[in-house]
Amino acid sequence: MAKLIDGKTISTQIKDEVKAETEKLKEKGIKVSLAVIQVGNDPASSVYVRNKKKACEYCGIESLSYELPESTTEEELLKLIRDLNDNPECNGILVQLPLPKSINEEKILDEISPLKDVDGFHPVNVGALSIGKPGFVSCTPAGVIELIKRSGYSIEGKECVVIGRSNIVGKPMAMLLLRENGTVTVTHSRTKDLKEVTKRADILVVAIGKPKMIDASYVKEGAVVIDVGIHRNEDNKLCGDVDFESAEPHCSAITPVPGGVGPMTIAMLMKNCLESVKLQNRV
Ligand code: GUN
Repeated sequence: MAKLIDGKTISTQIKDEVKAETEKLKEKGIKVSLAVIQVGNDPASSVYVRNKKKACEYCGIESLSYELPESTTEEELLKLIRDLNDNPECNGILVQLPLPKSINEEKILDEISPLKDVDGFHPVNVGALSIGKPGFVSCTPAGVIELIKRSGYSIEGKECVVIGRSNIVGKPMAMLLLRENGTVTVTHSRTKDLKEVTKRADILVVAIGKPKMIDASYVKEGAVVIDVGIHRNEDNKLCGDVDFESAEPHCSAITPVPGGVGPMTIAMLMKNCLESVKLQNRV
């Protein structure tokens, strides 16, 4: 039986650490705040935004809430971001994605000050990660690293295979595993003989976006398997990119869905909010 990597417990540990630090900062008269911007009312986004605000409350971080109508123009959103960039009362800025089609997402994300970019999506932060400079790291891949390390697995010298090359998960994931001295291979939909590559992995991170695609035939005996996917199956139950029942008996450790990577994203966002105060040289 594989060890289950418990993202719920680890994410709570991280939020408790953030909470302790924000309390210390408060004693010094420094508060931490996050602006959360949602445009329109996509139901999934509303759930994420609600959970982010709840986590802020838990950690002692003030959330500044901006719920804007679907009809908001790109120019109006850009102006709000510029105002928040200049506002010393706001440490972090999060624009929930996806944005309405009428708004150019890239243009919006590029406008966020890199010093307040707690999602780690700004090109300056992406570049900083790739050359090992301080900056914000995208929350989901940062959470994966914490899951692996806090569960007692070392990355150094290991064969790490990432399935998926998105800007939000796959690419930063590869950079972070490299930073931890893993030997990293990034695979994607055009990879030839994917199984041959994934079967080499001591650590397999799956972010392909296809429900239950990765079964036992992709997994090396004893691998640590991290499932970034989240989907609803035919019975309306949550499942990941990994076929858990098939893969689990062959792994030394595996993340469940739900309760694996999911809760880590918000915990790392809270950690980034704390980091924002440091990056803005206020402590
Ligand atoms: N939408 C889905 N995931 C994310 C995320 O990590 N950050 C933001 N801002 N929007 C998202």
